[in-house]
Amino acid sequence: MYRIGNEEINAVKEVIEKKDFFKVNGSCKAVWGFEEDMKAYFGTSHAAFTTSGTGALVSALVALGIGPGDEVLVPAYTYIATAMAVIAVGAIPVVTEVDATLSIDPDDIERKITPAVRCIIPVHMNGRPCNMGRIKEIADKHGIYILEDACQGVGSSYKGQYSGTIGDIGTFSFNFFKIISCGEGGAILTNNQKLYERSCIYHDASAIAFFGEQMKDFSEQGFCGTEYRGNEILAAIMRCQIKKLDSIVHDLRANRQALIDKLGGKFTFAPDNDANGDTGNVLAFRFDTIEEAKTFAEKTDSMYPINTDRHVYVNWTPLVEKRGAVHPLMDPFKMPANANLRHNYTADACPVSLEHLAKTVCCFISPDWTEEDIEKKAACMLAACNS
Ligand SMILES: Cc1ncc(COP(=O)(O)O)c(C=O)c1O
Repeated sequence: MYRIGNEEINAVKEVIEKKDFFKVNGSCKAVWGFEEDMKAYFGTSHAAFTTSGTGALVSALVALGIGPGDEVLVPAYTYIATAMAVIAVGAIPVVTEVDATLSIDPDDIERKITPAVRCIIPVHMNGRPCNMGRIKEIADKHGIYILEDACQGVGSSYKGQYSGTIGDIGTFSFNFFKIISCGEGGAILTNNQKLYERSCIYHDASAIAFFGEQMKDFSEQGFCGTEYRGNEILAAIMRCQIKKLDSIVHDLRANRQALIDKLGGKFTFAPDNDANGDTGNVLAFRFDTIEEAKTFAEKTDSMYPINTDRHVYVNWTPLVEKRGAVHPLMDPFKMPANANLRHNYTADACPVSLEHLAKTVCCFISPDWTEEDIEKKAACMLAACNS
């Protein structure tokens, strides 16, 4: 969470004073309002506010009709939630290499496509956009869906198009660690009416059941769903946060550039699929050897992606140990429909990714750094490089 203050306090106060916390009959209309705000900002015809990014991912997969018998390509470097969402709908995540950008490698996507693959999930990690041009070309050629996981990339873009709006359906997270945040929250974006209707029926099941007028114009038939519906308090915060997105991204980019300038060409940086669309929340350094990367990370107190626990596929413990559910008949790893699908999460599945991750170090940028903060950071990095 970067910037939160009086605007959010007043917005929450209003909801509490009116005691209208429920989306459907709330007089503040914060959820409806935030969904309109997202549509206007990101330019999609539909948007839905959810309780989390994970809830948004699961709802999007349900909407796409993904289930047992299906493989979904996920990158070797992403938060475990991306893969767990696939498991939640009964399908199998097939781990796919990331390239030097640390985002899903289009060449490995092509190598991994089989008739069982029905969806690709590009993940815009650390606000760094995936190569959506290539990914879209491949997906179109093979008739495969794209579900963008833009949970870490709200406000990032590829060739001028916002992350989350390029594939068939996209998802955001607004949890505490994200670029704009209400503590916990998420969103689904799409231009596809059918996918929107299905994701609403799924993520907002009881609102739909008890307040059927929300569905009156839907063509999709109802089915059993669950509750990932956002509430008025969180939406009220998000209506303020989305107004701050431009300035946060602007200041992140400016501070990252200022740091790069101060480093005076002494470092190599990881390539970017679209440097102009990168939100700038990290500066990714690339080293020739693992030893150099490790030492630099330790000396500068930076994030070392190979060590980021549940963000690297070999650390997705429940998947590595093939524990997909409590009930054996609900466990995708034990379902007969999935018996012939690929489920390998050991180091040999994506060795190239592990090497890229081990040679890259990410320094988090703050939009609120002062010149002095940037000066200090640069001095520490230059000292680490010279020692
Ligand atoms: C890439 C990615 N996908 C999905 C999620 C899940 O989002 P949430 O925590 O809102 O459920 C996260 C959250 O950290 C994430 O980083």
